[in-house]
Amino acid sequence: MNLKDLYINYFISKDHKFIPSAPIVPENDASVLFNTAGMQPLIPYLLGKKHPYGTRLVNYQKCVRTNDLDSIGDKTHHTFFEMLGNWSLGDYFKKESIAYSFEFLTKVLKIPVQKLAVSVFKGNKDIPRDEVSANYWLDLGISKDHIVYLGEDDNFWIAGENGPCGGDTEIFYFRSEDEIPKKFDPKDDRWVEIWNNVFMEYNKNKDGTFTELPNKNVDTGMGYERVVAILEGKDDNYTSSVWKDIIDKISEISNLPYEGNEKSMRIIADHIRTSVFILADNAGIKPANTDQGYILRRLIRRAIRHAKILNIDINSNWEELIANLIINKYDKYYNELNENKNIILSELKKEKERFNKTLEKGLKEFSKVLSSSNKIITGQDAFKLYDTYGFPIELTEELAKEKGMRLDIQMFELKFKEHQEKSRIGAIGKFKGGMASSGEIETKYHTATHLLNAALKVVVNKDIHQKGSNITEERLRFDFNCDYKLSNEELQKIEDLVNKWIKDEIDVIIKEMNKDEALKIGAECMFIDKYPDLVNVYIIGEISKELCGGPHVKNTKELGHFKIIKEEASSSGIRRIKAILD
Ligand code: ALA
Repeated sequence: MNLKDLYINYFISKDHKFIPSAPIVPENDASVLFNTAGMQPLIPYLLGKKHPYGTRLVNYQKCVRTNDLDSIGDKTHHTFFEMLGNWSLGDYFKKESIAYSFEFLTKVLKIPVQKLAVSVFKGNKDIPRDEVSANYWLDLGISKDHIVYLGEDDNFWIAGENGPCGGDTEIFYFRSEDEIPKKFDPKDDRWVEIWNNVFMEYNKNKDGTFTELPNKNVDTGMGYERVVAILEGKDDNYTSSVWKDIIDKISEISNLPYEGNEKSMRIIADHIRTSVFILADNAGIKPANTDQGYILRRLIRRAIRHAKILNIDINSNWEELIANLIINKYDKYYNELNENKNIILSELKKEKERFNKTLEKGLKEFSKVLSSSNKIITGQDAFKLYDTYGFPIELTEELAKEKGMRLDIQMFELKFKEHQEKSRIGAIGKFKGGMASSGEIETKYHTATHLLNAALKVVVNKDIHQKGSNITEERLRFDFNCDYKLSNEELQKIEDLVNKWIKDEIDVIIKEMNKDEALKIGAECMFIDKYPDLVNVYIIGEISKELCGGPHVKNTKELGHFKIIKEEASSSGIRRIKAILD
């Protein structure tokens, strides 16, 4: 059995309920682009809300961190990773949490006690030194010399600036064959951190003060890729069982060995895997020029450039071969991979084709820049590469570095801002929700989505709101809050109502207004804080008012006939409807 199954089964045996991974894109939290830790989707519950599954939870959570893109290509960094976690929501606290971790590591994974060491929080002016945790570790058999007390930088955990937080205890593993030192030195890199148990007792408020949470919670996190590599004795994560078959596939496609080509192969493996997971995610992200869509675009384009470095024929179906392998490898754990397989493969291909069209010319342009300049790539040149040839700035940066050139990034940013202000495309694109493309048929689906949203409010419940949306040329997909399965009768009523509105031939008008005004007239919107002050509201007669980047049809009669093809659960408390226009 692999680490993931062992972990989940162990905590289930300790009365924890398994909760499926939340989408990578946070559903009701616009403050981050992606979930970066297992606890992120659980914040409301750590703050005191009752969780429908109870007070003991366990899962593996899809996470994406892109703050360190430059490091991808080394032995240990990944943009996508899975975090194994178990939680107590006001249930057990330090004693049981530490005992569970200890038992899992020493009994299930059979790690010798001598190979473990821990750090605990040494306290600060508000929070006392955590002797309690240290004593539990001692009781279990961790030697005194293998326990250190560290300060806030190491042993206090918070996701970002505010929110639930607390002191933590971190568990380290001695990964070397050398003799185990008597004294644990956390700076000795033969000791690697494998698990973090956070004792969440506080909320850090926006003004910087701390208040006690209604419950004492436990939040633990174990990075799956990292720990698998450690347990398998690999110091290059990409040679562990998590990655080996993906790297082998890239080696087969490129007809090159891993040795000597590590950096490009790691980048391709990592970036395609992350892209596959982002495209499969229920949020419906597509390559675009803003937010998550832009990150996706950057990842795909960087993978393509490295495929080129390996002399892979980039017009072949290389990306499909790698993506298929990843889908098959993970679909046991994540249904959405198979469900969205067509979208994943077609979006990867489309983005590849888009980029391939300009890549050659862009690289030529880059060579010209190289020969004409003296050791510096100007902001102007970088902007031209971005704007005309679709080179994400990191790509230009990476190319510059390879050639020993400097890039004037400040000037690029200035040019970029100027351009954004001129076109306002950035602002509009940013707030389209899940709706990125805008062909004729997609435009119709955008409008149909607004009608569906309105019909759900009439037929089911006025408090229904959009929780996600995705449109392709084939269908619309709409996620909304509702905690039961809609009946056939309700679905029929919704369908009839939308079709009635289509027949009524209602004009769709667009009004620009400021945000407060939009809220005053009751316009629907997903993340009010993320919108600029001046917004577009689309109004469909008396039926619907929504903040939206558009585009939309001019009159509902253009939609033809609306038909619901599927209603299903999307995640806990969220239902999903797929519908077509025929
Ligand atoms: N939330 C904690 C972490 O990410 C467990 O390390």
